Amino acid sequence: MSTLEKKLARAEARITILERMIEEKSREVYVAHIEVERKNNWLSHLLKTIPSGLWVFERGGMPELVNDTARNLLGLSEEEASKVGFRDTFPDVDFERLLGVDSTERVETALRRQDGTTLPILLVTSVFNAGAGRAKKLVCLGVDRTAQKQLEDRLRLAQKLEAVGQLAAGVAHEVNTPMQFIGDGVRFLKECLTDLGSALEGHGELFTELRQRGCLTADDEEKIASIEETSDVAFVLVEGPAAVDRTLRGVTRVAEIVRALKAFAHPVDGAYTSTDVNAAIADAVIVARGEYKHCAEVMLDFGDVPPIVCDAGALNQVLLNLIVNATHAIEEGKAGAMGMITIRTRQERDFVCISVSDDGCGIPEAVRPRLFEPFFTTKPVGKGTGQGLALVHTIVEKQHGGQISFDSQVGVGTTFHIRFPLKRAQTRERAA
Ligand SMILES: Nc1ncnc2c1ncn2[C@@H]1O[C@H](COP(=O)(O)OP(=O)(O)O)[C@@H](O)[C@H]1O
Ligand SMILES: [Mg+2]
Repeated sequence: MSTLEKKLARAEARITILERMIEEKSREVYVAHIEVERKNNWLSHLLKTIPSGLWVFERGGMPELVNDTARNLLGLSEEEASKVGFRDTFPDVDFERLLGVDSTERVETALRRQDGTTLPILLVTSVFNAGAGRAKKLVCLGVDRTAQKQLEDRLRLAQKLEAVGQLAAGVAHEVNTPMQFIGDGVRFLKECLTDLGSALEGHGELFTELRQRGCLTADDEEKIASIEETSDVAFVLVEGPAAVDRTLRGVTRVAEIVRALKAFAHPVDGAYTSTDVNAAIADAVIVARGEYKHCAEVMLDFGDVPPIVCDAGALNQVLLNLIVNATHAIEEGKAGAMGMITIRTRQERDFVCISVSDDGCGIPEAVRPRLFEPFFTTKPVGKGTGQGLALVHTIVEKQHGGQISFDSQVGVGTTFHIRFPLKRAQTRERAA
């Protein structure tokens, strides 16, 4: 073998070794690539399934990453979401301050959505330091607190009603006894006035007779006239009984309020029976007809609902109160035109839902939080006592373990939704 041939053979051997090395390296790169891709997929799947909104904001406040949940919270598409900065998303939070702290921060704030509405959000942030010389980023997790807030509001309302209820029951009890004295006293006075009236009438007849017989001197006539004038007997006889009647009406009204207050604090704890909700509604509508017929029609939209175990008397009170309120709302909102009250029943999982809708005046935003408070009324004296919804709330939520809520739009109408559990709640509180 010539020297040249030997060199060639060596070079060929080296090439083979190099080729093998390249092949091996390529395989390694390929495996690493597959692994990276797998990790990437895993991460993007993770980002998609994280049940909280996740954002990474760059120094300037623009998002580098927005996950699906965050986009849903914002109500935006992927492309739109990538253009909405921190300050537009969380207008009440100081971005610079969060970027300046080292610790994890928790802020209760509002997230501004695309359509201008806001969502209550728990925002948890931390600063992402990518290394020396590289700009910091802000990692934000946003948890939607809407459901929890509603729950908290419900609880707060329940506690408030509980406290007011106890107070109201105490006052009702205290007012009841003197009110009975007043009622009895006034009724007695009325009888006295009637007797007195008859006596005076008798005297008048006697005077006339004496006068006809010529038994009265001019002096007597003068005395009689003077007595009648100073005591204004005629006026007293007409106005006295009228004043007593007005007082008695007032007494009756106070008694009604006291009764309603007591019922609110301790709803009639009647027997719990299996009740056909649709039939109960049909009955209530008949009973309430006198109230609504001059201003509204009632439309019944009954679903095929199973019976619920409830206190039928209390359910009736709930329905009557809602129908009367709907009537009043229509009277106010329709100025004489006929309105429509729609009562709908449906089964929703383990609940029977009754909704009572009206196309009346609607409920202004400002009064909504106070609706279930006892004594809260926007109606003139004599029309509203503010007891209706307080009682309805107690019966539905406390007595039956159900739920009550409403939707309303001023000038359009209101719907009250009540949900009764199909199985009577185990924890039902008995009225003490
Ligand atoms: N369907 C309704 N539409 C509009 N407002 C309503 C409706 N139901 C209740 N309201 C409002 O809620 C308040 C409280 O109702 P309620 O407790 O029944 O007391 P009342 O009817 O004696 O005023 C009412 O004064 C009224 O302002
Ligand atoms: Mg009412």
